Amino acid sequence: MSLNITHAVVVTLTATFLLLAADRAGELRKNQPAYVPPAKPAVAAAPAVDPDKGKPPVHNDTVDDLPESKGREITFYTCTACHGVALIKAQGMSRELWDQSFDLMLTRHRMPPVKPEERVEILDYLTEQFPPRRRQRGGDNPFLK
Ligand code: HEC
Repeated sequence: MSLNITHAVVVTLTATFLLLAADRAGELRKNQPAYVPPAKPAVAAAPAVDPDKGKPPVHNDTVDDLPESKGREITFYTCTACHGVALIKAQGMSRELWDQSFDLMLTRHRMPPVKPEERVEILDYLTEQFPPRRRQRGGDNPFLK
């Protein structure tokens, strides 16, 4: 019989596909252990409480670290949940800018909402205690005196 190249190719390919199919079906590796999917880890319950609970405080400031005046307490307890008083004392701003800062804390830093009358009291306090610092011409520069 004459076996030409076409026959040879067809036979080889057929044999290859049959072997691959048998392999995929697991026929060629019967003694392999069965695949066992890994156990799913138990889904952790969503934390119902503040995730920061138990973490050390970010500062050790007390009410006394703010200058005494009306509105000091409410300002302290509203504004030092996330940072100390230093960030606040470092600023000197107009009421308008304090107001904008307040909004920033609410929107960007997710400060919990504050009652309108408390907001007024806090803004009164901040504006009175930390007003814009006037920049005198030549302020600290001895050469401009
Ligand atoms: C929910 C958390 C949170 C509360 C409450 C909060 N802040 Fe902030 N504040 C931040 C974060 C976060 C920053 C970013 C600065 C940082 O800590 O590095 C910041 C920064 C500031 C700064 C620095 C300047 C700036 O704009 O970045 C000022 C001033 C400030 N806060 C004032 C206040 C005042 C006033 C209150 C109360 C009305 C307040 N914050 C309450 C989270 C808070």
